[in-house]
Amino acid sequence: MKVKIEKIEKSFPELKIDFSLEVESGSFTSIVGPSGCGKTTLLKLISGLLETEKGKIFFGEKEVTKIPPEKRNTGLVFQNDTLFSHLNVFDNIGFGLKMRKKSKKEIEKKVLNALELVHLQGFENREVNNLSGGEKRRTAIARAISFEPDLLLLDEPLNGLDAKLKEKMKLFLKELSEKTSLTVLMVTHDIDEAFFLSDKIVVMNNGRVEQEGKPEEIFLNPINAFVKNFVSDYVLIEGKPRIVNGKKMIEGKFLLPAKGKGKALINFKKTNYKFLD
Ligand SMILES: Nc1ncnc2c1ncn2[C@@H]1O[C@H](COP(=O)(O)OP(=O)(O)O)[C@@H](O)[C@H]1O
Ligand SMILES: [Mg+2]
Repeated sequence: MKVKIEKIEKSFPELKIDFSLEVESGSFTSIVGPSGCGKTTLLKLISGLLETEKGKIFFGEKEVTKIPPEKRNTGLVFQNDTLFSHLNVFDNIGFGLKMRKKSKKEIEKKVLNALELVHLQGFENREVNNLSGGEKRRTAIARAISFEPDLLLLDEPLNGLDAKLKEKMKLFLKELSEKTSLTVLMVTHDIDEAFFLSDKIVVMNNGRVEQEGKPEEIFLNPINAFVKNFVSDYVLIEGKPRIVNGKKMIEGKFLLPAKGKGKALINFKKTNYKFLD
């Protein structure tokens, strides 16, 4: 579903959100910005958990600005999302469907479908406390997509996962967005993540849009010092781990503002790189 956010505003003592955005149906859009710039607040405004003071929000052709969150049909995965610990995986994922008063049969069908999409087939009866970090995240995502939301909102979904799991989850999210017609809006402070996953990136600062465009556009032509500084020295497009002189490195394709695409060797903490071409 297409989403249009038209000059919405919300003021707090320390921050004013003043934001416009268009999201294409079926696309993956990332809003990237430093901690405290208003990303989580923005998702709350879009989902209706917070009321806007000004502006309009359209889901498709329909204005939803004053519509309560439960009637907006958005799937939400919040930062450090917690699953319902007293419910098993099946009941966690089926929660939204049950709230929507779907039949038992339909709940079962949709939960099993969501489980398949997140590669957790056979996990239905597991206790959520016994899941690994990645399995918990995928269960939270399954819970958010089980009722076929018009819009999936993800708040830093890869935050706090270890490096290996992060890479796996990145691939998983990419596959999920490619395999389904879901419209996804993710917020993150990690430009690498956004770069890898998105059709469009919006760089946010202080409640506002600094720049928006295709990932490469943002990266190669940052319009001001803030964006330039934020997109960092390079972006890893794809890479695999390699041991060089006993050290863990990543060899891969990456993008440098001055040079465009190239092959490089990057140290594992991504603080240092060497061009190979
Ligand atoms: N309920 C609130 N009351 C007062 N200030 C708030 C409230 N919610 C958000 N803010 C302000 O917005 C800022 C950004 O919050 P947040 O959306 O969590 O940023 P981010 O997700 O980008 O880290 C906070 O630091 C605070 O100044
Ligand atoms: Mg946040």
